Amino acid sequence: MADAATLDRGKALYGVHCNFCHGSDARGGEGGPNLLRTEILLKDMKGELLLPVVRNGKGEMPPFNLNETQVADIAGFLHNFPVAGYDASRNPPPSILVGDSKAGEVYFAKACAKCHSTSGDLKGIGAKFSDPKQLQQYWLMPGGGRGGFGGGAAPPSLLKPVTVAVTTGSGVIEGRLVRIDDFIVVLAEADGSQRTFTRRGDTPKVVVNEPLKPHKELLRVYSDDDIHNVTSYLVTVK
Ligand code: HEC
Ligand code: HEC
Repeated sequence: MADAATLDRGKALYGVHCNFCHGSDARGGEGGPNLLRTEILLKDMKGELLLPVVRNGKGEMPPFNLNETQVADIAGFLHNFPVAGYDASRNPPPSILVGDSKAGEVYFAKACAKCHSTSGDLKGIGAKFSDPKQLQQYWLMPGGGRGGFGGGAAPPSLLKPVTVAVTTGSGVIEGRLVRIDDFIVVLAEADGSQRTFTRRGDTPKVVVNEPLKPHKELLRVYSDDDIHNVTSYLVTVK
């Protein structure tokens, strides 16, 4: 059991970096899975198994530049939750629309306007969602949590696909990325036909282009207040 100072530090770090996807009670539902029942957390002692996930990211989860001590504090905080016997009344879900829409407008101008406009691509965004929580989920992770279409995220068909360019001896082949790991890369060409390439180290040269990357990289930067303020502002963009 972590001491009170560790719990405080862990709670604060979790609040800033993890809360909005894994939920204030770590039981997920906001884009990230329930953390309390994951293998990693069940086996983790003091952050050693959590560290690589946090540092490298996983699927839709971006990497975080937190050090070992910080992750150990977050682990201490997470291990303090009882895994069973959840009492919902102890942890009421925070209301999404607690933000200040004026502050959100200012933040949008500063942080989002270089790529988006509420009179252009995001015109009427507030009218598209009846539930502010879905709107928040959508603008945070337009591609959807865990790669799926859920929680109000855009269907992948509305977003520009992740593409890949493979340079072989006979030229560059480009297409939509279907699958990539250390050993193969699979792409779909414009006519739908799939091509598979075996990878060995840097051969062939593979360049992945993920349109959402610059957007996702910002997820690390927002504070909870920024997020709530921006959502409160976007709700008014009708
Ligand atoms: C932008 C949303 C987001 C944020 C912020 C986020 N996560 Fe995640 N996290 C996810 C998603 C989505 C997954 C599932 C990834 C997958 O399996 O493809 C995940 C997976 C995990 C897992 C692995 C669960 C398993 O069973 O494999 C751990 C552990 C985890 N997150 C911890 C954290 C911690 C700690 C933080 C804060 C430092 C954090 N996450 C911040 C979205 C997020
Ligand atoms: C560095 C550029 C960049 C910044 C800054 C940025 N985004 Fe994005 N955002 C993108 C890209 C690229 C996409 C993907 C567009 C696509 O695939 O069509 C995207 C997608 C989105 C989408 C879904 C697409 C749509 O048209 O509905 C929303 C909503 C969104 N961003 C909101 C925001 C908000 C709110 C902020 C600020 C808090 C922000 N973005 C900051 C680049 C950025």
